[in-house]
Amino acid sequence: MTHDIYDPEFVAGVFDRCSGAYRNWSAIASFGLIRAWRKSCIDGLTLPHDTSASGVDLMAGTGEAWPHLFARFPKIEKVTAIDISPGMHRQALKRLHMGREDRVSHLCANMLTTDLPNESADFAISTFGLKTFNADQHLIFARQLRRILKPGAPFSLIEATDPVGWSLRPLYRLYLDGVLPQIERLFLNGAQDFTMIGEYTRNFGSGGSVADALKSVGLNVDTRYYVYGSAIRLSGHKPD
Ligand SMILES: C[S@@+](CC[C@H](N)C(=O)[O-])C[C@H]1O[C@@H](n2cnc3c(N)ncnc32)[C@H](O)[C@@H]1O
Repeated sequence: MTHDIYDPEFVAGVFDRCSGAYRNWSAIASFGLIRAWRKSCIDGLTLPHDTSASGVDLMAGTGEAWPHLFARFPKIEKVTAIDISPGMHRQALKRLHMGREDRVSHLCANMLTTDLPNESADFAISTFGLKTFNADQHLIFARQLRRILKPGAPFSLIEATDPVGWSLRPLYRLYLDGVLPQIERLFLNGAQDFTMIGEYTRNFGSGGSVADALKSVGLNVDTRYYVYGSAIRLSGHKPD
């Protein structure tokens, strides 16, 4: 049977099954780069250090971005963590500590259809949550982001990309498409689901579809690539 890999229910199933091993495996498989990229995402958020803003973490997963967020903005009042996978929320809850649990609320919902109130967020972040959307969904995501943000509010999003044009790309692709799936098959429960994450990243390409979608709904966007185009950060703000 063939599946629509961009069907939100299918995506929720993939991440539910990956949720237990997701945190450690994503750090190992990326040689720790994923941590640095999450921090870069937070660095892209133009808020004052002592802000008491309330915002949203979109496709929040296990909450890996929160240590970086609270380290840079210690007085943030509230983060609403939106994710479609109950398993990822459960893992996030397990990790909440040091007083953060009062400041994070969990919303198990589809970002593309959530009815979070208009203009309710002082900021939005998203780390590695864009690849499971196709081009049509990127446009819906961009409209939702614009709707939820307050006028003038900043956002910062980061996602892994295909480093087209990098001389070491063949080696990098061999690692992603050949070596990683083999290791996953040998050592990980739910290896098939982890391999799916690789497929989403491949299809995501250079991230142009999200950048275009964000601009097309009138958001101001600054684009930055990392490690020869292996990740894209899209940061900016909603106009006043
Ligand atoms: C690769 S994980 C990233 C998690 C986390 N932000 C991080 O940095 O590790 C992608 C997350 O997006 C969530 N997701 C995918 N589609 C979604 C949707 N339509 N609405 C809400 N969450 C979604 C998945 O459940 C998964 O937890």
